[in-house]
Amino acid sequence: MKNLHNALLLKQLYMLKEMGYRYTDIVPSDIQEDNIILPNDMQELKKTVLNCHLCELSKSRHKVVFGEGNENAELMFVGEGPGATEDSTGRPFVGRAGELLTKMIENVLYIKRNQVYIANIVKCRPPGNRVPTAEEAMTCRPYLMKQIELISPRIIVTLGATAYKYLSSDDTPISKVRGRVIDMGSYILIPTFHPSYLLRNPSAKKEAFKDMLLVKNKMESE
Ligand code: URA
Repeated sequence: MKNLHNALLLKQLYMLKEMGYRYTDIVPSDIQEDNIILPNDMQELKKTVLNCHLCELSKSRHKVVFGEGNENAELMFVGEGPGATEDSTGRPFVGRAGELLTKMIENVLYIKRNQVYIANIVKCRPPGNRVPTAEEAMTCRPYLMKQIELISPRIIVTLGATAYKYLSSDDTPISKVRGRVIDMGSYILIPTFHPSYLLRNPSAKKEAFKDMLLVKNKMESE
């Protein structure tokens, strides 16, 4: 019910905007959306997300990229948001950055990509691959939080600054925070660079490699 109420409210706000009213972007700390009631079943959750029109990104997307992988995974990866290939296929990390992520999983962790779960901060492609706005990220956040609750991973690796920022609510630059192990209560968070950044800056791959070894080490412990 709360979801429906929010959707109607947002629709009214968009109407007012079209009529010329101006409003200020909501800042993350003002939003208390983690208590939105969402299905406790992954397939039902997926249906809800595929029908989402709560933010501007829904207007330009081709496909919603819900996430994919092992729903009982110990390890989960969270990226920023779909790119062009993901938007046209509906699958996360299947473009060039995805190929690199797959190599990092299979050649460093020695596990298959389908053994982990892969999702994003926003489920719809930001036009031109821009960084999602705070409003978009926070509107989509409850979906990710529910995925995390249902999967209940032991380890989450955030890929890049945006994923780290919106999952941890911490603004520390990724270059400072990468490779740390952050206790999030029910899981540990290990931030690393985004594969797209690694494609543009191959010299950072050695740090990302170290981060993945740390992930491997954590997977093997306990
Ligand atoms: N970059 C991301 O952050 N996520 C994807 O799914 C693809 C590219």
